[in-house]
Amino acid sequence: MTKKKAHLLGFIQHGVNSHATGMWRHPKDKVGWNFARPAYWEHMARTMERGFFDAMFIADELAPYNTHANSSDETVRWAVQCPTHEPSTIVPIITGATTHLGVGVTLSTAFEHPYSMCRRLSSLDHLSGGRVAWNIVSSYSKSEWEAYGAEMSERTERYERLEEYMEVCYKLWDSWEPDAIIADKASGIYADPAKVHEVVHEGRYFRCRGRHFVAPSPQGRPVMWQAGSSGRGRDFAAKHAEAIFAVHPNVDRMRQYADDLNERMHGKFDRPAGSVKLIYGLQTVVAETRSEAKEKYERIVANIPLEGALAWISGHFGLDFSKIPLGEFVQNIEVPGIQGLFESIIYAKGGAPVTVREAALIYAQGMGMPVAVGTAADIADQMETYMDVGGADGFMLAATYTPGCYEEFVDLVVPELQRRGRLRTRYEGATLRDNLMET
Ligand SMILES: Cc1cc2nc3c(=O)[nH]c(=O)nc-3n(C[C@H](O)[C@H](O)[C@H](O)COP(=O)(O)O)c2cc1C
Repeated sequence: MTKKKAHLLGFIQHGVNSHATGMWRHPKDKVGWNFARPAYWEHMARTMERGFFDAMFIADELAPYNTHANSSDETVRWAVQCPTHEPSTIVPIITGATTHLGVGVTLSTAFEHPYSMCRRLSSLDHLSGGRVAWNIVSSYSKSEWEAYGAEMSERTERYERLEEYMEVCYKLWDSWEPDAIIADKASGIYADPAKVHEVVHEGRYFRCRGRHFVAPSPQGRPVMWQAGSSGRGRDFAAKHAEAIFAVHPNVDRMRQYADDLNERMHGKFDRPAGSVKLIYGLQTVVAETRSEAKEKYERIVANIPLEGALAWISGHFGLDFSKIPLGEFVQNIEVPGIQGLFESIIYAKGGAPVTVREAALIYAQGMGMPVAVGTAADIADQMETYMDVGGADGFMLAATYTPGCYEEFVDLVVPELQRRGRLRTRYEGATLRDNLMET
């Protein structure tokens, strides 16, 4: 049996912190680097390309969380994914510094018309030579809706609107025929209008009448990426996504998820099981010895502020955790926010009860992802299990401190994965889609 090779992505935000709350105060974080300047992103990109990653993946929010005590004070105080700069601005910097590395960019559909979304993504796909993926989100946090002065809609409504959003996007991306551009200098004719179709859409949520302003980009449309985790979200992913990002704390949950998704794809949408890449979140802490790795891990965990952690889970799960006793078990709580990520903390101790305090601290370490702590061989063992048993096609590697954690991963774990035949030794494809679809 041929061994599956891992697709690797670096999971990051365009901000002072990413998904480990307290990362910025780690003594090794961004030493000599400024996240707001291009040099930092160029270095991060080159490091990931040196490690044959498929892409850097930029998560995003549109505003600081304010669910905790109905305020964003703790979010601001503890740098809980705040400040965070606009994600698409760094895409050309990342792809300009590299030749093969892709970029997954999270762009919310909530407050932007599909017309400008498609125009921006097509432009980025051109500039990168076909290396862009779009993480499709619809803004689940009340702070985002308040910042835009809008009334937050319910999940079902958000997904209905998103379905129509995608319909308009596909119409736009498919509206130029491949041979529409003639570019004949002698006659002066650049493009054949008969082959550049006007999109006319009159729907419940959107109206659009116009031609897509950008000629077809190298990938035609960006790689469709999704992380919805409710039943409705999984259906959306099973229908539209080419790759999915999911967080599950252990291999059993991964397996259940993979089976459920394959069932939805096959049963409901007539897509072959396995035709969507399943990329699971993973955090790694690697060192030459196990004891050194353990010590490193403890130093990372020590940076997490409980109040910041509570502000984060309040934001992600849409519930004010300042009002819930720290000793309450999360298994007894229902949340309106990101259900799939909440499950990652419910099962963080293999199903045993988890208190709010524990849940907050586990979550703030890396969004409920499993943490692989050990030598390169230990980490590679764990990754192989997640692939062979859990159904993972690859991993979204969450930062612990930057750029150091990626440098260490690339220097120590990447050669081990390659030695085992679990990671490419060169890029084969011309586009991100080509590379991502390799097995
Ligand atoms: C692993 C993971 C990562 C996510 N990253 C983001 C993100 O960066 N930005 C965002 O707005 N939503 C993010 N989400 C939210 C989802 O994409 C989705 O909008 C949200 O989970 C609500 O849909 P659901 O109810 O189907 O889960 C993420 C969700 C998961 C599970």
